[in-house]
Amino acid sequence: MLITGSTDGIGKIAAMRLALMGATVFVHGRGPEKCRAVRDEIWKASGNPKVKYFLADFSSLHDVVHMASAFGEIQNHLDVLINNAGVFPTQREDRNRHLSVQEYDLCFSVNYLAPFLLTHLLLPALRAAPSARIINVTSAAQEAIDFNDLMTFQNYSPMLTYARSKLALTMFTFELHQLLKEENITVNCLHPGNLLNTKMVRGIPSEPMGDAEAGADAEVYMATAPELEDVSGTYFDRKTPAHAHEQAYDKEARRLLWRISLELTDLKKRTTGP
Ligand SMILES: NC(=O)c1ccc[n+]([C@@H]2O[C@H](COP(=O)([O-])OP(=O)(O)OC[C@H]3O[C@@H](n4cnc5c(N)ncnc54)[C@H](OP(=O)(O)O)[C@@H]3O)[C@@H](O)[C@H]2O)c1
Repeated sequence: MLITGSTDGIGKIAAMRLALMGATVFVHGRGPEKCRAVRDEIWKASGNPKVKYFLADFSSLHDVVHMASAFGEIQNHLDVLINNAGVFPTQREDRNRHLSVQEYDLCFSVNYLAPFLLTHLLLPALRAAPSARIINVTSAAQEAIDFNDLMTFQNYSPMLTYARSKLALTMFTFELHQLLKEENITVNCLHPGNLLNTKMVRGIPSEPMGDAEAGADAEVYMATAPELEDVSGTYFDRKTPAHAHEQAYDKEARRLLWRISLELTDLKKRTTGP
């Protein structure tokens, strides 16, 4: 199982729990020291030696490509991919917009384009598993995408940018499900909880309202629950199927976003689709 953004917060707790259950766990993070420390902490607490880590800063799509090929070098199949890594665009002490290496909006790129690209590149490994699950960690904070201003360059607001990146990930979930529904791969997404006490939430003006453990609990449920074996194309509010933003059900909007995302990630040159 590969959990992106598992050096902190919800992802780290989920990685620990899955390792305690005996899974082979691939941690992912952007800093080598933090990755090593988390791997060692999980090794020590779980006694599970099958924990490795991958490094990739998702502010660069090149890093995502390198990570996928590094994964392919050591592992030929993947049972569960949890696209958990994410950022909120501004923090209390820094309210500026930041750009990715490709000069895209950083939040849109880390939260949406990076998992879009990584998932495509890992599809051969997911297909090589007897059955596989893709779990996208979105949010209840979802705002309609304006295709004339996809990355909110004209109309910037940190919350709008974050909420659009999360709706984009939800739309990707539903569209990928349509493409994979005849295969043994389920694709779902979840809102892990409201203002859970993590680094991301501690950095914004609102006060945390819940524990990160609750979010990890929902992720572990999505990754392991036998009753979800055939459930796909669903948005969950924690562990309960729920209704996403209306635009996620608009097929034309999903297909347009997909086409634009293939261009932005350069995937068009690599593949014609899943
Ligand atoms: N907490 C909530 O209430 C809440 C609510 C709804 C949705 N979510 C979603 O839940 C997911 C986990 O968030 P969290 O609350 O656990 O936040 P967190 O504690 O800040 O953890 C975020 C993880 O993503 C990683 N990450 C951030 N930027 C990255 C980059 N450029 N490249 C690679 N990795 C990067 C972080 O790495 P570092 O350790 O290096 O920072 C960390 O491992 C996110 O997708 C978030 O949007 C959270």
